[in-house]
Amino acid sequence: MTFIKDLSQHVGEEVTLKGWLYNKRSSGKVKFLIMRDGTGLAQCIVFKGNVTEEVFSLADTLGQESTFEVTGKVKEESRSVGGYELDAIDLKVISIAHEYPITPKEHGPEFLMDHRHLWIRSQKQWAILRIRHRIAKAIRDFFDERDFTLFDPPIITPNAVEGTSTLFETEYFDLGSAYLTQSGQLYAEAGAMALNRVYTFGPTFRAEKSKTRRHLTEFWMVEPEVAFFDLNDDMNLAEEFLEYIVQMVLKDRVHELQILDRDISKLEKVKRPFPRISYTEAVDILHKNGVEFEWGGDLGAPDETIISNQFDSPVMVHRYPAEVKAFYMKRDPEDEKLALAVDVLAPEGYGEIIGGSQREDNLDILLERIQEHKLPQKYFEWYLDLRRFGSVPHAGFGLGLERTVAWICGLDHVRETIPFARMIYRNTP
Ligand code: 4AD
Ligand code: MG
Repeated sequence: MTFIKDLSQHVGEEVTLKGWLYNKRSSGKVKFLIMRDGTGLAQCIVFKGNVTEEVFSLADTLGQESTFEVTGKVKEESRSVGGYELDAIDLKVISIAHEYPITPKEHGPEFLMDHRHLWIRSQKQWAILRIRHRIAKAIRDFFDERDFTLFDPPIITPNAVEGTSTLFETEYFDLGSAYLTQSGQLYAEAGAMALNRVYTFGPTFRAEKSKTRRHLTEFWMVEPEVAFFDLNDDMNLAEEFLEYIVQMVLKDRVHELQILDRDISKLEKVKRPFPRISYTEAVDILHKNGVEFEWGGDLGAPDETIISNQFDSPVMVHRYPAEVKAFYMKRDPEDEKLALAVDVLAPEGYGEIIGGSQREDNLDILLERIQEHKLPQKYFEWYLDLRRFGSVPHAGFGLGLERTVAWICGLDHVRETIPFARMIYRNTP
């Protein structure tokens, strides 16, 4: 069996393809079957004179998404989908499909999401999932090549990391409530003290009440954590990382970006160094653009869009008011009101894709923060131990995979960036 993606290596040869019927048309003595095999599309030409009577009429029985096997000679044809065609000499039906629900006409997003298990067979969804995979591989390669150890944190946890309002709660035998993790960070910090440079990469959960284009309740996050890093080192790592991801997609997934009509020139502009502005400078940008914004508040999605529209590359906004950030972030020694935090905002209005910070490494201060935030100290004793025994400055960040895929693919909504999206109003199929 040959894959459609490899047809260029078989011009003039006879091959057998197996796949699904993507589309068909016929005109008298010839039928055109477009096959999809998961690696690409190819047109198979069934000419009445080249096949038996039986095989010729078999082509009529195939409805959209029927599966079949076709044998024929490969020829180059630049006008044909994929650039190569097959002159069929034989056809075998594997399974007949009737009335496939997703037809070439327009369907609404809810209908498509209800049929997500089938929708992923469509060209655009295929392209997105292949780009997602390339990004995931770039993420692993980047850290593996830089001496990071992959460190897998637990998903079931006894406490919150990123605020208590977005926790998924579950009963845990006789131990009371447990929660699905919002972030592997606290465990990654333990990992960094053992292995120096670590990264986590896996699903995380937020019971987000927000019904927006950027929020999923289950999403994938990659979180590097590095011993002896400060905020500046953290920003250097984040910018090198993002540039690398975009470069790898541009190297290996141009065809898929074209299927999505992505403006590739915008991605080509993602080059280091990225602009770095403080939160206070970001607020100035908002004021200059006529936005009424009071210093001290968190940036909303429309604010982020205005800020990121000033730049071609992702922009790093650092030193947020500590009030709007998490308990574990270290304060700026130059101004105690500020947290040593950074958010990276993607261009073209895609908003925050990375959140990171230098961590509080002083035992007494961290203890105070846990009390201020009314967090149950007993569940954080192990985390405090990291400050009791060999505490060092350290920093890290989290990148949301789905928001990154949405930005690189140029999509309106994160629901198309993951095989089966989980949102506040959807947990099927
Ligand atoms: O900014 P967040 O909440 O940061 C953390 O969780 C830190 N513990 C990370 C760290 O320092 N190790 O989340 C990080 C990223 C966001 O920038 C965003 O890309 C993504 O995770 N994210 C979501 N993506 C989709 N749906 C949601 N509900 C998301 N919440 C966060
Ligand atoms: Mg954040």
